[in-house]
Amino acid sequence: MSWSNEQRYRAITDAKDGELSALEAKVTKSIWRQTYHIQPNYGLLNDPNGFCYYNGKYHLFYQWFPFGAVHGMKHWYHLTSADLVDWQEEGVALMPEFPHESHGIFSGTGFVEEEQLYLFYTGNHRNETWQRRSSQCLAILSSDGKIEKVTEPVISGPPKQYTHNFRDPKVFKKGNHYYMLVGAQREALEGCLLVYVSDDLKSWKFKQELKTNHESFGFMWECPDYFSLQGQEVLLVSPQGLKAKGNDFQNIYHSGVFIGEFDEQMVSFDTHAFQELDKGFDFYAPQTTQTPDGRQILIGWMGLPDTDYPSDKDGWANCLTTPRELSIKNGRIQQQPLQELKQKRVKTKHQQVRVASSRERLKTIFSEAGEYQVTIKVEDAKKAGIAFSVGENEETVCLLDRESKYFSLDRTQSGIPVATDFGTVRKMIYQQPTIQLTIFLDQSSIEVFVNDGEAVFSSRIFPKEDSRFIELFAENGTAQIDITQWSYE
Ligand code: FRU
Repeated sequence: MSWSNEQRYRAITDAKDGELSALEAKVTKSIWRQTYHIQPNYGLLNDPNGFCYYNGKYHLFYQWFPFGAVHGMKHWYHLTSADLVDWQEEGVALMPEFPHESHGIFSGTGFVEEEQLYLFYTGNHRNETWQRRSSQCLAILSSDGKIEKVTEPVISGPPKQYTHNFRDPKVFKKGNHYYMLVGAQREALEGCLLVYVSDDLKSWKFKQELKTNHESFGFMWECPDYFSLQGQEVLLVSPQGLKAKGNDFQNIYHSGVFIGEFDEQMVSFDTHAFQELDKGFDFYAPQTTQTPDGRQILIGWMGLPDTDYPSDKDGWANCLTTPRELSIKNGRIQQQPLQELKQKRVKTKHQQVRVASSRERLKTIFSEAGEYQVTIKVEDAKKAGIAFSVGENEETVCLLDRESKYFSLDRTQSGIPVATDFGTVRKMIYQQPTIQLTIFLDQSSIEVFVNDGEAVFSSRIFPKEDSRFIELFAENGTAQIDITQWSYE
């Protein structure tokens, strides 16, 4: 079905009687519903928003279009959690009310100050000729749970020389001032960030475009984030329009980090390389927050813009990644699974198998939602690996190739194909004979953490319901594979 603008641009309060419950009933039957990832009850989820710790709980919002699996009128849907593991649904937090946000409440930040949670977001408006008008807006959540919007935007539009692709404010404090970074596009159709400054979080002054040594780097920069980690400064951004290079930037759009330093004036960020954050097929627009004990936690959208997903026909699309803990090692961001996830583990199955030029199906461990620790030790084999969600002509393969020296995640035969124009294998260079994988498998996703957080591959997969075997294999020689499985409560 193709959606008209009238169908796409409705707020949840415009739902007809029974419309949403009928949609929800349809979604419930989908075989790809996740068991422990954050997903929409129906409709489409995209970016995580407003991620923060406030009033004794974590708050997380996500971009949500309620009426089906398309990008339409975006709302902010609100979740809270004591431990980043079990989430409570708080319902819609922000929906369009004013003319400047008539076509959606776009992404933004949660910033805590004086016992209030400031929610900065982009008001998206389309005029009569469907031209986009973007402004940066503010809503305040108080400790009694009430949200009040400031009725006029705090920044009414981009400065001259920039287009109305002007969105996703990130707000933080540095020294005595508050700063806002806004994703932007020069009139020459190049992506960048704009810096604003404020002393009271309400009136904002444009400083200038942030100077980096990545002047011409994609056509639009979305969803900036900024934090300090181990005494270094990290700027996170989702630039659109980068070209594939080696094993990097294989998807339609990408998210990554610059590790560097702001100058005192906050108008330039001295940085060297851009590190792509995820090597899998579905990852975009992540956000971070800090825990009370000082860990920097990242959650991303396990999906991509401009991409159709097989669950669309079931009335829903997308989910968020599991939360990850960030650290810096040898000048690179490392990502490790959230410690708290261990609390959810139950039942351990463990098996150690020596595979010799063969393929073996496990008899007691099946591809069930949960966590897996897998160690592959290639002895004299040329290749060895593990295949999940194996069924008739279906499998999702983690492969260590000793000959060509890479590790890969292969979803060529994972089930219903997704975005195949962008290839079906993702790789990283890998030289050692042993690899340790922590894998989070759910009904329609796999997240593979390599070694101590060196790389993560996050991907959606859409297998048949009965593709539930696990197989181990080695080619031209022997390998030892060790697997431990936990399911989640
Ligand atoms: C990123 C993005 C943001 C925007 C939001 C709209 O996926 O395009 O730039 O605010 O989605 O849903």
